[in-house]
Amino acid sequence: MNSKKKYNPYEWWTAVGERSVAGNQDNAKFDVNNKGFSLYDIPDIEAIPKFFKYIKKDTKVLDIGSGIGSYVINLINRGITAHGCDISDSLLTICRQNSKIYNINSSGIFFIWDGHNLPFTDNSYDLVTTNTVLQHVINENQIKDIFCDVSRVLNNNGYFCISELVSPKEFMPSVHVKQRTVDNYLSIGKKYGFKAIEIIHYPKLYGSIFYLYTILLNKPKEVEPKTNNESGSDYIYIQNNNNNFLRLSSQLTFFITNNFLDPIVRLLKLEKYFHSHVDIVFILSK
Ligand SMILES: C[S@@+](CC[C@H](N)C(=O)[O-])C[C@H]1O[C@@H](n2cnc3c(N)ncnc32)[C@H](O)[C@@H]1O
Repeated sequence: MNSKKKYNPYEWWTAVGERSVAGNQDNAKFDVNNKGFSLYDIPDIEAIPKFFKYIKKDTKVLDIGSGIGSYVINLINRGITAHGCDISDSLLTICRQNSKIYNINSSGIFFIWDGHNLPFTDNSYDLVTTNTVLQHVINENQIKDIFCDVSRVLNNNGYFCISELVSPKEFMPSVHVKQRTVDNYLSIGKKYGFKAIEIIHYPKLYGSIFYLYTILLNKPKEVEPKTNNESGSDYIYIQNNNNNFLRLSSQLTFFITNNFLDPIVRLLKLEKYFHSHVDIVFILSK
């Protein structure tokens, strides 16, 4: 994928799905009996249990930007009615394949979505979830359309649970990613009748390294992490404007930040100063 090309969400995510089907099957499967794997960012799936307290046996859930179906299949497997929708046909194909693995009849469960108008009737869900999708919606009008339409399909007092990567200030690490601030999501939510009832920060200093490096080096052209398995362990490469690379061992960085630094940041309540993963739970007050 040429990252210089203008980002077209349909083309981008169709290509992601096609690559997964054609080659890297691991990318397209997840362990439903364990926590389930997200498309890329496995730790992010830890958000699912956070939503459980908002789910009763008869709660009807819609997951927007369902990717490979991790949320939906996890929930159906637990006896909950859940539907998914996504802009990418190829990812929906993977959802159907993954459903088969878990003996779930996928008909009427996964739907194509144009990214603006949800193909569902008004007041038809109790809970809408979305995990690492809104950061890929770089167009501000589309974000507004999404909040507006989620509000339409939700029942009165329904919940909208957003699980997203955020930054202390708006930041585009890549052509297809716009990290917004928590305040930004809160103000869009408010505009469409949502009231934030819970905000949970998960500091991810691992991500902050990209963020701080970008700020320090005055916005490098390209901050796509690159991996290299030649030596048997993964490295992340970050490139600055002078084509210099910063090489980080991803395993070591993960280990140090997740096990040591992240808890300290949480203890000192410094999360909002770092790029972090946040869950925002809104309740709709129509
Ligand atoms: C990082 S994946 C996350 C998938 C899934 N929610 C998960 O946690 O595994 C982002 C998903 O959002 C969808 N998506 C990305 N940009 C979009 C856009 N602008 N409009 C609608 N859907 C989009 C993609 O097709 C993809 O399935």
